[in-house]
Amino acid sequence: MNVIGLMSGTSGDGVDAALVSIRGTGLNLTVTQRAFCPTPYPASLRRQVLAVSTKGTVAEVCHLNAVLGEWFAKAAMNVLARARLRPSDVHLIGSHGQTVHHLPKPIRVPGVGPIRSTLQIGEPAVIAERTGITTVADFRPRDVAAGGDGAPLTPYVHYLLLRAGRRSRLVVNLGGISNVTYLPAGGGLSDVRAFDTGPGNMVLDALVSRMTGGQQSMDRGGRMAARGRVDVRLLRQLLAHPFFHQRPPKSTGREEFGEAFLARLQATGRRRKLRPEDLLATCSLVTAMSIGMARRWLKGNIDEVVVGGGGTNNRTLMRNLAAVFDPTPVRTFDEVGWDSKAFEAVAFAVLAYQTLKGEATNVPAATGAAHPVVLGTIVPGGRR
Ligand SMILES: Nc1ncnc2c1ncn2[C@@H]1O[C@H](COP(=O)(O)OP(=O)(O)O)[C@@H](O)[C@H]1O
Ligand SMILES: [Mg+2]
Repeated sequence: MNVIGLMSGTSGDGVDAALVSIRGTGLNLTVTQRAFCPTPYPASLRRQVLAVSTKGTVAEVCHLNAVLGEWFAKAAMNVLARARLRPSDVHLIGSHGQTVHHLPKPIRVPGVGPIRSTLQIGEPAVIAERTGITTVADFRPRDVAAGGDGAPLTPYVHYLLLRAGRRSRLVVNLGGISNVTYLPAGGGLSDVRAFDTGPGNMVLDALVSRMTGGQQSMDRGGRMAARGRVDVRLLRQLLAHPFFHQRPPKSTGREEFGEAFLARLQATGRRRKLRPEDLLATCSLVTAMSIGMARRWLKGNIDEVVVGGGGTNNRTLMRNLAAVFDPTPVRTFDEVGWDSKAFEAVAFAVLAYQTLKGEATNVPAATGAAHPVVLGTIVPGGRR
């Protein structure tokens, strides 16, 4: 089956599309990546996505849902073109959508009990209409309904595609938010542990955007951070954030490490007369050290750390990770046979395929759900 996976993470940088061929059933799948194509959001759309995520009106969310539906459809058509295929050659699309809000902490509501919620937009009906391809979307809410955080969802796919037999692997994804998946040697799906560790690139991106008056959206290669000096006092203060000390299962997002976090960080920076590059250097180390701290909740050794996501391009971040895990080797997905940039998009193609087959793909130990569930909403394709 040819399947397209569409992903846009908390970075809000654009839609990554992967076209894969999948064969098999259950935990015995063969997945081959055929093409990959990123479709970046224009700067104004990225700003809108980030703004709506914290202070959007219902009207803005409603509108953006339809706008993003078009961008996700565009991303699907772009990867089709790159693969030189037509929509009729593809059976299925799995679309993660764009998270605009994530509230995993239960809020007590009289009459119904504790409520958790999460909202991904990028209307799948638009994707199905533009492409004619059956589209699975809204993967997270079913896990949330089953008592989970709805995140992280990639651990199932990490288990499927990245487990390494006799070696224990720690999979790290450096997206806007960073998450880890522990795949113990010889373990089954029920032995997998996974959770968000905190910010990956999100704080770094926001700092650079503010430093450059919105001219730049990231610290390319981690070069600015490399010129800075780590401030140990600020480092300690940041690492005291309660999320880093919370026991898993746990997940986080822009609600915890967005605007308010940044404002506090910058205020401290001004008070202590730190240069912007010092803030970047310190925050890069916070990302790496908070990932290292994840080890306290994992039983068993780690033979190898395998890193994916956009943050693999940030050399300072990668250098910090290597130092934190030394002497354990830190490799990238590319070094173990998978495309770092494409992996999360590939993952949502795999999850959609399994949904169509009626397979449950949440990992209850990772999300905190009461039981395994089949994820997603299916919008039929085809035109009449
Ligand atoms: N060349 C690069 N140098 C430094 N950072 C990069 C580079 N390319 C991508 N990134 C970082 O990766 C982020 C996007 O990573 P991605 O895996 O798409 O995250 P998400 O899943 O949150 O969208 C960017 O916002 C940026 O911080
Ligand atoms: Mg992205």
